[in-house]
Amino acid sequence: MKHLIAPSLLAADFLHLQEDIEMVNRSKADWLHLDIMDGVFVPNISFGFPVLEAISKICQKKMDVHLMIVEPQKFIAEFAACGTYMLNVHYETCVHLHRTIYAIKEAGMKAGVALNPHTPVHLLEDILPDIDMVLLMSVNPGYGGQKFIEHSVEKTRKMREMIDRRGLDTLIQVDGGVNMETGRKLLKAGADVLVAGNFVFKSADPEKTIDELKELQ
Ligand code: DX5
Ligand code: ZN
Repeated sequence: MKHLIAPSLLAADFLHLQEDIEMVNRSKADWLHLDIMDGVFVPNISFGFPVLEAISKICQKKMDVHLMIVEPQKFIAEFAACGTYMLNVHYETCVHLHRTIYAIKEAGMKAGVALNPHTPVHLLEDILPDIDMVLLMSVNPGYGGQKFIEHSVEKTRKMREMIDRRGLDTLIQVDGGVNMETGRKLLKAGADVLVAGNFVFKSADPEKTIDELKELQ
């Protein structure tokens, strides 16, 4: 499968969100990555339902929602109603992860589990067959524009091996500090989906940057 690209809207110009989303629509991006932060699980607050709802009206790409919030199980119906395609919850926020995953699926969405940089991949061993995607954080969640943590490449490789060994088709997404150089390493290590925020939106020609990420070998 050719890898997928999910630009992260967190790095967009919030005064011109419509233009930025239309740019993503025109580009070769596969998904639009949307970061929801609550100021509790992560030391930052991003945006919530009214913004997400407005985005869903013009977004032609699949909405990939990354929840960096405590008690994500409380809001599953609301995210489904906003047109979410993939709903990612953090392993670190879910005491009853299995129940939460099935609630997401029953609401008609795909279910992803995100891991902080320090959380080992082997903790997903027993939930792996039940989930559609693993989201490996390659920075500490909370902010865009941070430095890529190199160990994420090794983590991606380990995750790839775990998935392949069991003949599963779970996707591996990597999020944080992705550019051409880190993106190439991650693809080589077995990543399926690359998220990129600042590298896309702060570039001179964001649409071209997305297309270049899509063409990465
Ligand atoms: C960080 C977010 C990321 C972020 C990526 O908490 O989950 O999706 O927007 O931004 P860059 O690509 O700039 O590191
Ligand atoms: Zn994210």
